[in-house]
Amino acid sequence: MNRLANISPRNDSLVSRIRRMRISDQGTCLNIQKLTFPDAQVYTDFAKELRKNHSIYLVTYFDLCSSQVAVKIKSSGYLCECSTNANNISGFIGSWRVADQIQIIDFIVTPEFRKLRIGWLLLASLIKEAELIESKLITLEVRASNNPAINLYKNFGFKICGSRKNYYSNKSEDAILMNLDLTS
Ligand SMILES: CC(C)(COP(=O)(O)OP(=O)(O)OC[C@H]1O[C@@H](n2cnc3c(N)ncnc32)[C@H](O)[C@@H]1OP(=O)(O)O)[C@@H](O)C(=O)NCCC(=O)NCCS
Repeated sequence: MNRLANISPRNDSLVSRIRRMRISDQGTCLNIQKLTFPDAQVYTDFAKELRKNHSIYLVTYFDLCSSQVAVKIKSSGYLCECSTNANNISGFIGSWRVADQIQIIDFIVTPEFRKLRIGWLLLASLIKEAELIESKLITLEVRASNNPAINLYKNFGFKICGSRKNYYSNKSEDAILMNLDLTS
């Protein structure tokens, strides 16, 4: 089955590219994480993650300078205001390879650039990497209320396979466990 067959960027004029995260991206990615989860007690130590052999971190970026990105977005009518960071990074996904499985541990698109299929590109790219290294399963946990993420995962064929009661202690919210079987 080609589970990535229907993937296409929604906005053809604003092309997002993908590459491995670099040490020089760590500040930008930390800012994106802080912006998204201002109340988090712990943030990712990206430099440490990138040193681990079993980590796979990908970033999406615009292959344009910031002002070109702004003009493209405005002209396509998606957003009126936007700004980009120094590296033009629009999101990232992080995972660990554990035996023949991939566990997604970080996944964020910069708030200004959501709903432009950037999350889609990141997830599709990670699935492609997982297939290349012959992983059998991709696993993750997600807040029960996080419909944008749950919908996205379901679009790729992820199935709910369990839950963890009150896993997120700050709002005593359940975690939904989802996985994608890459062998079927
Ligand atoms: C989840 C997240 C990464 C999605 O990124 P995104 O670039 O906005 O998503 P995309 O534009 O690629 O959307 C792809 C699909 O996801 C679903 N989706 C995305 N945003 C959605 C929303 N606000 N409401 C409902 N469904 C949504 C839709 O099914 C969408 O498909 P469609 O475009 O055909 O409607 C982004 O919302 C985010 O960074 N959220 C905060 C961090 C987070 O919760 N990470 C996941 C942790 S498990």
